[in-house]
Amino acid sequence: MNSVSFLILSVQERFVAVTYPAEPWRIKSVETIRIATFEERELALREAGYNPCLLRASDVYIDLFSDSGTNAMSDRQWGAMMQGDEAYCGASSFYRLEAAVRSYYGYPHIIPTHQGRAAENILSRCLIRPGHHIPGNMYFTTTRAHQELNGATFHDVIVDEAHDPADESPFKGNIDVGKLERLIDEVGAETIPYVCVGAPVNMAGGQPISMANLEDVSELARRHDIRVILDAARAVENAWFVKQREKGWEDHSVAEILLAMCALTDGATMSAKKDSFANMGGWLAVRDEELAEEARGLVVLYEGMHTYGGMSGRDMEAVARGIEESVQEDSIRARVEQVAYLGQRLIDAGVPVVRPIGGHAVCLDAAAILPHIPRELFPAQTLTAALYAASGVRGVERGAVSAGRDPVTSENRYPSLETIRLAIPRRVYTRSHMDVVADSIVQLYENRHEITYGLRFSFEPRHLRFFQARFDKVPLEAF
Ligand code: F0G
Repeated sequence: MNSVSFLILSVQERFVAVTYPAEPWRIKSVETIRIATFEERELALREAGYNPCLLRASDVYIDLFSDSGTNAMSDRQWGAMMQGDEAYCGASSFYRLEAAVRSYYGYPHIIPTHQGRAAENILSRCLIRPGHHIPGNMYFTTTRAHQELNGATFHDVIVDEAHDPADESPFKGNIDVGKLERLIDEVGAETIPYVCVGAPVNMAGGQPISMANLEDVSELARRHDIRVILDAARAVENAWFVKQREKGWEDHSVAEILLAMCALTDGATMSAKKDSFANMGGWLAVRDEELAEEARGLVVLYEGMHTYGGMSGRDMEAVARGIEESVQEDSIRARVEQVAYLGQRLIDAGVPVVRPIGGHAVCLDAAAILPHIPRELFPAQTLTAALYAASGVRGVERGAVSAGRDPVTSENRYPSLETIRLAIPRRVYTRSHMDVVADSIVQLYENRHEITYGLRFSFEPRHLRFFQARFDKVPLEAF
């Protein structure tokens, strides 16, 4: 949606033209936020080693670090939590979760986990052996880390457009089937346990994959007896984009499209902290009974009994209700259009962002905003720190720091995208918050030449380094 378009809404059977659809909820409980002063923010940032991940949340004004687990739950979800069955074995809350996943995602075997990466851990341990290869549409941090820990090499087979922030293609999350075919020919289908499909692709800025592409990938994989595993964390957002952008799907409901997407895959890992409006939770789902048995065997080792995984009964209730709410069309529309509103305000002001605007986040193109900072001094990390200091808005670096080091060469990986991701929690912030974020970024952009330093690691963790790394400021003239 752009700022001048009009939407026709039916209000009590009269039609009203509005420029921006109101949220399909009203607020029942509020949480006060503190605005730290500029001096407090500067001090907090120094103490956090210029890594906004290490800030205390109470020092953050508008927190766009992640849309994961940061959702506002509904009254129905809170109500359901009181009905959580905390039995060690066979809790009724598990069966409610299982029924919800079966009916909305369509997989027969559901293994609950405490969050998405736990499902990735179990799946990777079940299917990956040293020397294996995993193709996927761009990496995700935790997903690739588990694949590599189990001895696989990840291969990015996303379409080239995904690497160009300015490219406006509608399905930049698509897999390049030619790249996938060449990889299969090169390494042999027997060394590829599964194709890992993100829908949409988080690290590309929330770019969706089309149904047509997923069909092609699924067909190619089936021909070679390779599984397709969906990263379903934000699959409802993907379904929304399919409905909006892909010919032939406009008259299907989001729920139908979600089911159709899952039907093309052999299983899924899920972080229920995203689409499902929960603060905690996840699951692994598979079609294959034997694989399900193996995964259930591992879940008791790493998570807990196979009927609660890492979740309490009340968490499972919240996820089950959240799944039902997530596919409501007015809910998913409000979510994606709030993100689009922020993105459009930045585009209108000329701020370089990843286009088209994704479903969960607006990504600032730090390489284009700070071309005077060399990649070795992490322009996206530098901009993330500067944005917090200037405005109290917290985003997360999604560039070279997040990409980590190559496990074989130990060299820094420099991905094509060097961005700050501003992820919007669901049902948490209003349009005025988005305006404050936009104004803050536009002002920082206008003063970007005053950022005359970069950052260098003073502490570099071994795994997922972006979470806990610390940095020192390096003046550009000293580099
Ligand atoms: N897959 C995707 C696409 C994700 O975005 C995430 C988490 C995971 C898997 C792992 O799930 O956090 O429940 O263990 N993304 C968060 C983010 C951390 O901020 O993008 P988890």
